[in-house]
Amino acid sequence: PRIFVPNDATAIACGADRVAKRLEAGLLARGITADITRNGSRGMFWLEPLVEVETERGRIGYGPVTPAEVDELLHAGFLHGADHPKCIGVVDELPWLKKQTRLTFARIGIIDPLSLTEYEAHGGYRGLKRAIDLGPSGTVEEVFESGLRGRGGAGFPTGIKWRTVAAAPADQKYIVCNADEGDSGTFADRLIMEADPYCLIEGMTIAGLAVGATKGFVYCRSEYPIAFVVMEKAIEKARMAGLLGDNIMGSGLSFDMEMRMGAGAYVCGEETSLLESLEGKRGLVRAKPPLPAHVGLFGKPTVINNLVSLATVPIILDKGGKFYRDFGMGRSRGTMPIQLAGNIKHGGLFETAFGISLGDLVNEIGGGTASGRPVKAVQAGGPLGAYLPVHQFDTPFDYEAFAAKDALIGHGGIVVFDDTVDMAHMAKFAMEFCAHESCGKCTPCRIGSTRGVETIDKIVAGEKREQNLALLEDLCHTMKLGSLCALGGFTPYPVVSALTHFPEDFGATPKLPA
Ligand code: NAI
Ligand code: SF4
Repeated sequence: PRIFVPNDATAIACGADRVAKRLEAGLLARGITADITRNGSRGMFWLEPLVEVETERGRIGYGPVTPAEVDELLHAGFLHGADHPKCIGVVDELPWLKKQTRLTFARIGIIDPLSLTEYEAHGGYRGLKRAIDLGPSGTVEEVFESGLRGRGGAGFPTGIKWRTVAAAPADQKYIVCNADEGDSGTFADRLIMEADPYCLIEGMTIAGLAVGATKGFVYCRSEYPIAFVVMEKAIEKARMAGLLGDNIMGSGLSFDMEMRMGAGAYVCGEETSLLESLEGKRGLVRAKPPLPAHVGLFGKPTVINNLVSLATVPIILDKGGKFYRDFGMGRSRGTMPIQLAGNIKHGGLFETAFGISLGDLVNEIGGGTASGRPVKAVQAGGPLGAYLPVHQFDTPFDYEAFAAKDALIGHGGIVVFDDTVDMAHMAKFAMEFCAHESCGKCTPCRIGSTRGVETIDKIVAGEKREQNLALLEDLCHTMKLGSLCALGGFTPYPVVSALTHFPEDFGATPKLPA
């Protein structure tokens, strides 16, 4: 039989390596030959380590499995899909998976991440083949047609970005993948690198052929050592198979790529400081214009896209832009990998078409809080995203609907808090975070964040409340409009939303900032 034990960072953190070792030893002791495949997580983190066994009925899951339970499972006959208190049935039939629309994450947890044969058997490299047939401008137009918008957070149309780079005359162009996934509660980029690395390689290759770039870099955050190693191995295997390098798939076209590791600065997720860092310099934000699409890496026209955007390109090319844009609502087309985290019962990755409500995500999909206490707020869009209270839970997951509420969908992370959270503390945390991570280039962010921490402290202490609230309001306004990049510019969102929706946590009912 074939057994699957996930090998991604979450499953390993939950004990998957020890489970795999016990399984190997148990099989050996029983003289059973079985193939243990280290797949990626299916994204249902509360079930990790989730061990699956292939049976005639499909893949039967057991989870969460502790190393101590392995012998008991073997004894109970789990290799034949026997019943057991840890048995969760046929994994593909679980409502949590069945309710999803897995396009970008279709192969996650299903295949052996480093097997090219399995990647291709599950639709891999069909997108690249089609891109080669369509040619550069046909490929760019297919991506434009799909309505795909940047999944890093800003939501800029990917097709327009590619058109800009394709039209820029240059002897050298680059594709840069932003895998500096710094938003709190997000792990979509990591999961793709660890569980389906060829999908990113294929997406970057398509981007390269489409805009005329022959070289790509993945800027991976240093907190992702496993992802980095998996990607390096996958790149090497793709190269050996003629899927990277010269004459890709016999097309006569060239594209190659390399991994680069960041050094832990949050601001290096901002595209221009990422480029500085990639060039070996300090991660200081560059003023725009010029846009990276015109003057990017080493001064050359560069497509810099978030990892999820690039990993979505293969399915768009395979099934067509129209197929992809049929999902979603309004101007938010396609699907979004929503990452449920924080104080939530069922945390994990849920890929679905845009339009699902925040309340459904938190309560129905996520099952409410892990603590069992009432939800007080969720933070969407990272540490600089707004806090949304329960009365805004009817907000659909959509770029524009969130923006209308002064909120961000960001990279799709939702962090849940129960009623024990102190929102004044969270507002202060946003300012502290900004002070800690500021690159220091502009004054509203560098100085404003520290003054923000002090002012919130004074408000909470009841010191000159009205004056300090007015000061905080003014400071937030200055940071929002006067900061050079999103780090300083977005810090006011969590602060203002906390003040607006939870004034009681700031000691009294304050005057609300505009
Ligand atoms: P932006 O709105 O300045 O730019 C968006 C993208 O479109 C950039 O790549 C820019 O170069 C490109 N662009 C704009 N006009 C263009 C044109 N005419 N032609 C070609 N390309 C063009 O946003 P920015 O400052 O890059 O990102 C802010 C976003 O980042 C926020 O919305 C926030 O949600 C998100 N963010 C994400 C984080 C993460 O960990 N994923 C962390 C912090 C913020
Ligand atoms: Fe640097 Fe902050 Fe200014 Fe961004 S807003 S450029 S991080 S100082």
